[in-house]
This record gives sequence, structure tokens and C-alpha cells, in this order.
Amino acid sequence: MSRTTDGPALRPVQLHELDQLMAIETQAYPFPWSRGNFIDSIVAGYRLCKRIDGQGRWLGYYVAMAGVDETHLLNLTVAPPFEHRGHARAMLDELVAWSRNRAAARLWLEVRASNQRAQALYRRYGFAEVGLRRGYYPAGPLGRENAIVMSLDLQERGDALD
Ligand SMILES: CC(C)(COP(=O)(O)OP(=O)(O)OC[C@H]1O[C@@H](n2cnc3c(N)ncnc32)[C@H](O)[C@@H]1OP(=O)(O)O)[C@@H](O)C(=O)NCCC(=O)NCCS
Repeated sequence: MSRTTDGPALRPVQLHELDQLMAIETQAYPFPWSRGNFIDSIVAGYRLCKRIDGQGRWLGYYVAMAGVDETHLLNLTVAPPFEHRGHARAMLDELVAWSRNRAAARLWLEVRASNQRAQALYRRYGFAEVGLRRGYYPAGPLGRENAIVMSLDLQERGDALD
């Protein structure tokens, strides 16, 4: 059976796949989530999905928590060899569609103040900067780093911006 002609697909991440996930997580972040953070996410029933290509290669993944009428994006990561190809945007599109299906009105996230690239992606996507959490992230021996809180209104917005 050949799987090479299929396009990218989104699949739930299983506990037994966390070695593959952690290999990407530790490459992508100076302060990665621990394996325990991902186990807790699965156990808590958060949405943990991987984006794979037609050969089953991991392109990225995300973790999102469903609230009553909102979604909180906790982790969005693209495997370094596959950056700049629209995979982050594609995962956001899927998360927005899933959130709207649940009648969520808003999508929230936090991003490191120093992570200009991710902030630019979210801004282009339509997120607005709505707050600051001081000292939210660990930042090595020098202490802590602020988080920018961003939010996307799912009721006002139609399709993803170009
Ligand atoms: C931030 C991050 C998620 C972006 O992922 P990505 O898949 O590269 O993002 P996208 O491709 O969707 O968009 C990023 C860029 O690619 C461009 N792009 C989108 N589709 C493209 C395509 N088909 N071909 C070429 N470029 C494309 C976008 O215009 C954008 O331009 P930029 O280079 O000026 O930023 C990724 O770099 C990452 O995982 N970083 C490390 C972890 C991290 O910081 N996560 C966010 C934590 S809040």
C-alpha cells in the first residue's frame, strides 16, 4: 500500500508517540515542554494533534484546551526542517474550524515577548495583542520572561487572512 500520494493530514497524538514529539520539541525550543507536560495534556483530554505528510513524517503539532466558549492554544510547533511552508497557518486554520464547531467565541494564546517570529505569524493571522503576563516563562539563570497574551475573535472573522 502506498501512502506517498496523500497530502498532509491531522491526527491525534498517542502516548506511545511522545518520543517522536519530544525530538521535535527539544529542537524547536530553548525551554521545551517536558514529556510530563504532554502526558498531562493527553490525560486531561486536551486536543493534541500532529500534522503529518503523506509519508507519515511529522510536520508539527499543537496542544489546545477547550473552555466553555473559548479555546486556549497552549503549544504550536513546526518541525524545524519544515518551517516556512505554511504548516503553522494550516494548523491554526484547523484549530479555528474546530473551535467554531464548538461555538467558541475566542481563541487565546501566550507567546514569549522575545519570540518575534511567532508574534508576527499570529498578527498576520488576525490575532490582537490584548495583555502581558509578567515573568510567565522560565528564562534560564537570568530569571523569567514576559508573555504577550494574544486573542482572535472567532465571531467577527471569516476565513484566515492572507
Ligand atoms: C513560529 C512557527 C510555529 C511558525 O511555523 P511555520 O510553519 O514556519 O509558519 P508558516 O509557514 O505558517 O508561516 C511562517 C512564514 O512562512 C511563510 N509561508 C507560508 N506559507 C508558505 C509557503 N507555502 N511557501 C513559503 N512560505 C510560506 C509565511 O508567509 C510566513 O512568512 P515569514 O517567513 O515572514 O514569517 C515555527 O517557526 C516554530 O515552530 N517555531 C518554534 C516554536 C515556536 O516558537 N512556536 C510558537 C510558540 S507561541
